[in-house]
Amino acid sequence: MAEFEVRDVSAWEAVNPEPIGRDAKLWVREPGAPLGSRERDWLFKPVIVTASCHRQGEDWTEKIVSELGGLLGVPCAEVELAVRREVPGSISRNVAPDGWHLVLGSVLLSTGISNYQEGQLRPPGRPGHSPRTIFQALGRCAPPAGSGRLTAVEVFAGYLVLDAWVANQDRHDQNWAVLRQAAAPGELRLASSYDHASSLGFNLLDARRETLLGSGAVADWAARGTAHRFEHDPGRSWREIPTLVAAAHDALELAGQKASCHWIERLSSLKWAEVENVIARTPNLSDLTGSFILELLTINRRRLLHER
Ligand SMILES: Nc1ncnc2c1ncn2[C@@H]1O[C@H](COP(=O)(O)OP(=O)(O)OP(=O)(O)O)[C@@H](O)[C@H]1O
Ligand SMILES: [Mg+2]
Repeated sequence: MAEFEVRDVSAWEAVNPEPIGRDAKLWVREPGAPLGSRERDWLFKPVIVTASCHRQGEDWTEKIVSELGGLLGVPCAEVELAVRREVPGSISRNVAPDGWHLVLGSVLLSTGISNYQEGQLRPPGRPGHSPRTIFQALGRCAPPAGSGRLTAVEVFAGYLVLDAWVANQDRHDQNWAVLRQAAAPGELRLASSYDHASSLGFNLLDARRETLLGSGAVADWAARGTAHRFEHDPGRSWREIPTLVAAAHDALELAGQKASCHWIERLSSLKWAEVENVIARTPNLSDLTGSFILELLTINRRRLLHER
């Protein structure tokens, strides 16, 4: 199968910068989008090059995780690899269809959860941001379109299974959202998952990947992935924060047997050749990076299926 295309968005109209998030990003509009429509706007996210000239992998991570989400059945923003005026990056299509507005998790939780504090302020222990409070808030929300018979809560539990599988430690309260219908009755619905840039060891150097692979230490690396964006005891050491896998298991338990059976079945029945195919189709990925990702996905899948 052909490699994923890298879309040249140099000529796309710049609509506005995105003020939320750590790094500079720009909303660009697909040519031919109808006037006044925003559902064909895409968020261009340039790759970060560190002060020591290390080109990180936010672009391929975004693309690969959106594809893996698709294999698992988790609704994810559409993502493409992209380049804008010679800057590499990715584009993520607006998850809000016309007639709907994005309401961030931080906004949703501040209107109903008493002990909640906004993650942006970096409160120690992230009070009030937990699967329990999120499920409480999602109780009045519909699931994303096309979720079959799953509820919003059951779908969100799937977001945490995806995070644990791909080692995404960054599911803070601005990295999930609901959609609010602009017209009456102003229905709420869980938005598709977005911002998976901090997954799959996107910022490792190949030398480090080589060491981890060569010494059989990928499992140890994976086990250090913690759910530190969710409520935890701030007095405890980093090591005692629940792992991403433990957080996913807890969320599944809380979401109920239907959610548990659904996501565990999806994970166990994945066709591994399709997972390998996603990696093979990603352009400019070093062999080491590809091997590291597949090893990590194998380990985390096993942990999710068998660790309890
Ligand atoms: N596909 C999308 N559809 C709609 N809104 C989006 C989409 N992707 C991102 N956003 C919005 O833009 C914000 C910033 O984007 P994103 O989270 O991808 O950037 P970031 O810089 O990686 O953020 P962080 O600070 O979490 O690292 C999000 O919090 C969300 O409000
Ligand atoms: Mg973000």
